[in-house]
Amino acid sequence: MSTGLRTVSAADSPFDPDNAGGYLQWREQKLAGYPPGLSALTIEIGDPRALSVAERAGLIDAVGRANLAVYACRSRAGDPGIPRVLGRQLGLARLDRNFLADDDGVSQLTVAGDKARGEFIPYTNRPLGWHTDGYYNPPERRIRAMLLHCVCRAAAGGENTLLDHEIAYLRLRDEDPAHVRALMLPDALTIPAREDEDGIARPAETGPVFSLEPRSGALHMRYTARTKSIEWKRDAAVAAAVAALARVLATPSPHHHRITLQAGMGILCNNVLHERTGFVDDVAAPRLLYRARFYDRVAET
Ligand SMILES: [Fe+2]
Repeated sequence: MSTGLRTVSAADSPFDPDNAGGYLQWREQKLAGYPPGLSALTIEIGDPRALSVAERAGLIDAVGRANLAVYACRSRAGDPGIPRVLGRQLGLARLDRNFLADDDGVSQLTVAGDKARGEFIPYTNRPLGWHTDGYYNPPERRIRAMLLHCVCRAAAGGENTLLDHEIAYLRLRDEDPAHVRALMLPDALTIPAREDEDGIARPAETGPVFSLEPRSGALHMRYTARTKSIEWKRDAAVAAAVAALARVLATPSPHHHRITLQAGMGILCNNVLHERTGFVDDVAAPRLLYRARFYDRVAET
């Protein structure tokens, strides 16, 4: 299925700040083809372990237009193998194994009592600010797609807001092309090393916010709204761009998609911007989501 939004190489990518004509053409197609709301991005599926041709095509079409899709299984699918098996049917084969994921590379996001996980906000019930996944990863572990599958929702809260990172790019470039140039600087954002009791657990990572995939010209985004343990390049253009991006994120728009996943629902995306509200658990049935992160983008997008 063609959405007309694909790019062929980095050299003629519409995301290249020097490609003004390509950008305007892409922009027009992107906005014209953008689904009118979250319901248009939601695909009902029977068995996530065995997608039908139409279900797979629906998911790929939604991700092709908006970099994200929501799926809703007709049953309360709770098998931890789902993110792997579903991902594989969509071209997502290379799983990122972070040190808190289980051995199969799938993280179980739930409120953790243990200290190791409890110091990371995803494993608490606190709000989680805007970010893309793996912003602290080195380039060889760049997260291009992410799958979030809900097994049990919270008693209250736990709502996600999603924003296609290409739309964030578009808003910034429309406001001032200098913003996207600043956020493409190779030293725009540094995540300092994280140290644990044994010394350095992860080295510092410096890189751009927006970058282009070398072969496809696809746009990748690396971002966190965190203000602690983050170092932005000391540069007026970067500061202006970061402030503009914060405004884009904070201003509700038809492209901001809010969703509280129910059991059996999930989000499939090319690592778009997302945030999460805080939540309150039912102690008898705490919120549980499976999360898988991939080095691949969703197939055919
Ligand atoms: Fe995330």
